[in-house]
Amino acid sequence: MNSTWRLENPAKLDGDLMKIILGPASVELGAKVAQLLGIEAVSVYSKIFPDGEVYVRLEGAVDGDEVVVVQTTNYPQDTKLIQLALIADAAKRHGAEKVTAVVPYLAYSRQDKVFLQGEAISIEAIARMLKAAGIDSLVTVNVHQEKVLERFPFPTLNLSAVPLLAEHYKKRGLRGAFALAPDKGAIHIAEQANRILSGGCGYLEKHRDRYTGQVSVERGTFDVAGRTVIIFDDIISTGGTIVAAARILKELGAEDVYAACVHPLLVGDAEKRIMEAGVKEVVGTDSIPGPAGKVSLAPLISEALKEYKIG
Ligand code: R5P
Repeated sequence: MNSTWRLENPAKLDGDLMKIILGPASVELGAKVAQLLGIEAVSVYSKIFPDGEVYVRLEGAVDGDEVVVVQTTNYPQDTKLIQLALIADAAKRHGAEKVTAVVPYLAYSRQDKVFLQGEAISIEAIARMLKAAGIDSLVTVNVHQEKVLERFPFPTLNLSAVPLLAEHYKKRGLRGAFALAPDKGAIHIAEQANRILSGGCGYLEKHRDRYTGQVSVERGTFDVAGRTVIIFDDIISTGGTIVAAARILKELGAEDVYAACVHPLLVGDAEKRIMEAGVKEVVGTDSIPGPAGKVSLAPLISEALKEYKIG
């Protein structure tokens, strides 16, 4: 978790002064969080004008309140980011004392540095925009690189949903499965899962061509012959990473291969391609609403809001 987070007003979560604003991209998740915390939810009326512009209106009072806006930012990410910014503006304009954004999937966090000459640091530009709109702090889940949060001009908190995913598979009888990270940068994810599944963990070496996006994966040195393996990743987007990893696992003799991710973006026919590569099931969280979001983040987010409170 990001150490910049600080508890300021612990008394306020008790009900009267805090409200959850249900961002249009995460209405169900926001409502579950409000229910678990036993606090009021404020709906948002939203629409897209014929020319593509975004409109929002808060359907409840927030005067004098500290509010938490739950709004994920998967595709169409630009629309959802603008909705979030406009909600923050509306909340502050109508008297909210403080606005915390809960953004389970934080768009643009993969462009966290200049990889090729001439590029933007997209996440830093987004962070500045959110600050200007009135957001005072931000909670996210398994952000691609935690260090991007240092670029935010306000306190941030990064939660991990990996234990929830591992618990899901443990409850399904997969205790003892090998937890595999599809690249070295995700080994911490496999290690977290291994603390629950206890079947060992490892990683593959992945390379992505920065111009074509093509993924290639090299064999690891671990032995998974005859074993059940769960590939854990933060994001599944095109599915290229999981497909490449699953093929290698099959070559190495893995018996059953499953995939788990926090953010199941599953662009186009990604899930179909993953299943065709021999993966038995793809499980994600409701960070991204949809059929793959089988594990809810609501308990994780509500516990964090209780523990860290929002001041
Ligand atoms: C990248 O390093 C991420 O952790 C994921 O592995 C990546 O975003 C997955 O993308 P795709 O599904 O398109 O291979």
